[in-house]
Amino acid sequence: MKVVATFARARSESSKVSGPIGLVPTMGSLHDGHLSLIEEARRECSHVVMSLYINALQFGDIEDFERYPRDLERDLRLAASAGADLVFVPEDSTMYPEGDVSRVSFKGISEIMEGSFRPGHFEGVGTVVVKLLAGLQPDRAYFGRKDAQQLAVVRRLVRDLAFPIRIVGCPTVREKDGLALSSRNLRLDPKCRESALALSRGLFEAADLAESGEIDGPILERTAMNVMADTLGVEPEYATLADQINAVRISHVDRPAFLAVAARIGRVRLIDNIHLELVERSVVVDRGLRLSHKSVLYDDAMQQDGSLENRRVS
Ligand code: PAJ
Repeated sequence: MKVVATFARARSESSKVSGPIGLVPTMGSLHDGHLSLIEEARRECSHVVMSLYINALQFGDIEDFERYPRDLERDLRLAASAGADLVFVPEDSTMYPEGDVSRVSFKGISEIMEGSFRPGHFEGVGTVVVKLLAGLQPDRAYFGRKDAQQLAVVRRLVRDLAFPIRIVGCPTVREKDGLALSSRNLRLDPKCRESALALSRGLFEAADLAESGEIDGPILERTAMNVMADTLGVEPEYATLADQINAVRISHVDRPAFLAVAARIGRVRLIDNIHLELVERSVVVDRGLRLSHKSVLYDDAMQQDGSLENRRVS
């Protein structure tokens, strides 16, 4: 696995290989969710590029940016074990050269949920993703459904700006007990870790209702919201049923949708969602995948030799 810092070096490495180039954009602090994207890219592409860049532009809260975990050596070891061929680790001056003034903005799609609680977030995500796609020129790019609104925004961006790139959405990877993997989970003390389960519990309760025939948006939203609100230590921000394509709020599960939640647990802000689809008048819910082992997020889950062979998801 090679590590490069410039777009030109990255393109030159990719040009040595024939067949599709897959890109997995990340901000590092890798966990099994990120690794599952690399593995999916590995299955479909001849050359897998992972980018690792903590994009200050998408953080509204400077403290959140500063507290973001950084451990390049560990990330490189994990990326190699999951099958990345190349890791792109740019300097700030490569991503935002002096005098840089261009930004990507959106209408509608980025205004609710994360867009309203994190003003400017999607402008930051859109801008960095455009630079990565333009600079690295992949054929496919892999994103997690864990960030469902981000996935919708990126799909729209690629379509609107005519990038000849296929965006692949991959399932949310969860810990054994249901908590969606996030590098922010590392900041939860044991009490908060317990409270954090309210997000997935609320979503799964709504999922059970949907599978038994309930397609009313406000009822599903209230179900998830109530579980969070009734859990000590959880400050819910929203529970919203949205259209998978446009990320606008919808009143019924009458098209591919996701139910997204966000909450603060102490000083840590977490998001999660489930995807819902109507198949022959029944709702089918994608709750994501559960690990059968402790996540690599907690270092002692790594094998002594750094291999990940015993990892399993179900
Ligand atoms: P980051 O939070 O590092 O996530 C990188 C990718 O991993 C995203 O596509 C995200 O949806 C996916 N991911 C995160 N947690 C996941 C989980 N539990 N299961 C499956 N996939 C998961 O998202 C970003 O970085 C940035 O916004 C980025 C796109 C890199 C732009 O800066």
